Amino acid sequence: MKIYRTKDYDDMSRRAANLISAQIVIKPDCVLGLATGSTPIGIYRRLVRQNQEGDLDFSQVTTVNLDEYRGISPDNSQSYRFFMNENLFNQVNIDKRMTYVPDGMEADSQAACRKYDEILRAVGPADLQLLGLGHNGHIGFNEPGDHFKKETHCVTLSERTIQANRRFFDSEEEVPREAYTMGIGTIMSARKVLLVVAGEDKAEIVKTAFFGPVTPQVPASILQFHPDFVLVADEAALSQCDLPLSGQL
Ligand code: GLP
Repeated sequence: MKIYRTKDYDDMSRRAANLISAQIVIKPDCVLGLATGSTPIGIYRRLVRQNQEGDLDFSQVTTVNLDEYRGISPDNSQSYRFFMNENLFNQVNIDKRMTYVPDGMEADSQAACRKYDEILRAVGPADLQLLGLGHNGHIGFNEPGDHFKKETHCVTLSERTIQANRRFFDSEEEVPREAYTMGIGTIMSARKVLLVVAGEDKAEIVKTAFFGPVTPQVPASILQFHPDFVLVADEAALSQCDLPLSGQL
């Protein structure tokens, strides 16, 4: 595990965006695993700027997103497809047919998972998988449980996650209770994993996930076993970890 400690959220976004653009420059037809949530927004803003300034070309990039709410259509402003279109895809020269998000509208949830896994297999392992971190240690929507789930599955969201997502909806009733998520096995098969986290409210889970035991009760802890895992975290998020104050972490 490599840790980049950054001053603040902006600094975190810049470091992470640079790692992603380096990936695209090195391999223009790379596969990027992408994430939603508020944390990656600053990264997407920077990637959009680099694209608009002519420094970054998305024309051959394929993307696979981690998750999607069940029962929400792509044009619902709370869907993750909508989020990705707004924050990245509509603003860069990516071929939208090469951007994949689980289908929240498929009535048969098993079919939705199967179809997404077929896409993931066809596209191949992500060259770089971007992740955020839930307060309970979830990645994508892999919630704490008694085992790590390998493939795409339909999850009943935990009460804590529902409450965390509440801010994006008009009322609590509107917050979806179920979601599709890429499995831990698929996430771990990415060649490189980049997890971004900022803010003091995540300090406790950062310590637990990356310096505590590896356990499905804290899904992100599995990343300690990934051969190329990069954690880009601001000082506030690292404030409970016992790390040297300077130099290579
Ligand atoms: C949601 C998403 C996750 C994300 C997490 C943290 O539950 N499914 O992919 O990492 O929220 O979100 P935020 O970055 O807004 O704290």
